[in-house]
Amino acid sequence: MTRNLDITTATMTNTLQPPPEKIVSLNSQETFDSIDGTVGIPLVDDPKMTSRGVNVFYDGKQAIFDVDLDIGNNEVIAMIGPSGCGKSTFLRCLNRMNDTIPAAQVTGNITVDGRDINSPDFDPVLLRARVGMVFQKPNPFAKSIYENVAYGPRIHGLAANSAELDDIVISSLQKAGLYDEVKDRLDAPGTGLSGGQQQRLCIARTIAVNPEVILMDEPCSALDPIASARIEELIDELRENFAIVIVTHSMQQAARVSQRTAYFHLGKLVEVNDTSSLFTTPEHKLTENYITGRFG
Ligand SMILES: Nc1ncnc2c1ncn2[C@@H]1O[C@H](COP(=O)(O)OP(=O)(O)O)[C@@H](O)[C@H]1O
Ligand SMILES: [Mg+2]
Repeated sequence: MTRNLDITTATMTNTLQPPPEKIVSLNSQETFDSIDGTVGIPLVDDPKMTSRGVNVFYDGKQAIFDVDLDIGNNEVIAMIGPSGCGKSTFLRCLNRMNDTIPAAQVTGNITVDGRDINSPDFDPVLLRARVGMVFQKPNPFAKSIYENVAYGPRIHGLAANSAELDDIVISSLQKAGLYDEVKDRLDAPGTGLSGGQQQRLCIARTIAVNPEVILMDEPCSALDPIASARIEELIDELRENFAIVIVTHSMQQAARVSQRTAYFHLGKLVEVNDTSSLFTTPEHKLTENYITGRFG
């Protein structure tokens, strides 16, 4: 008897409370439909790169939807979002790496210094020197440390003689924060370095061809925390000379290294804001759900 009464009281109490806030499912059609354009500040004055109306399809299935985004000079812009939301796909648009994936088709307009990177007269090899890329897993060539860095400058004819090539190799290793650790063994294989050193070697290799933009796709995900911290410091130093776009699954890392952060969800660019505002006062509900870990 008493027990029944308790249940009734509890039920009545519940009906008096407001219904719990509806939590949308991470991947539902409803969530997808609710994303209508990008909030925040996707565009900047005097951009280094621009993307307008960019879509990407894999075998006809759309993975990126109508993205408008600028990359500023000397900024680090972080790209975050749930796995599979299109971060790597969008990043690859910026130096035409999707050209190397037969199933991929990119539409829309992307420029660097105002020039359409997809126009037939833009050599993709030159583009990839100007817009370099560092991958998730360090991938040094099976060559010496020296040759890993010298490879690009040789191909692009950047050094008139071996002394000039030495200068490029040394200064690239210095900028990548690796020179002091390897200066006595430049002839040793790059693959013999630790994971963190290999990733800095790959950064040196990218820097050696004078890029203007560096794309990094989860560059620390295969590294331990100390090696990751070293890469993060490096990113901050590199910003003086390059624009950097970094995909990261770590919100803490995005908060530490970037000035703007872009939040992708289900292939759409939901929000771009300066990093501190995005993490403290997100404008879009989906951004808020993601950064607070609240997804149903
Ligand atoms: N090479 C590919 N072929 C077919 N589909 C792909 C390919 N790469 C990515 N995709 C699809 O595109 C979507 C976005 O993937 P991706 O860009 O890798 O996301 P993220 O980097 O955010 O994890 C996913 O649905 C993924 O399955
Ligand atoms: Mg990815």
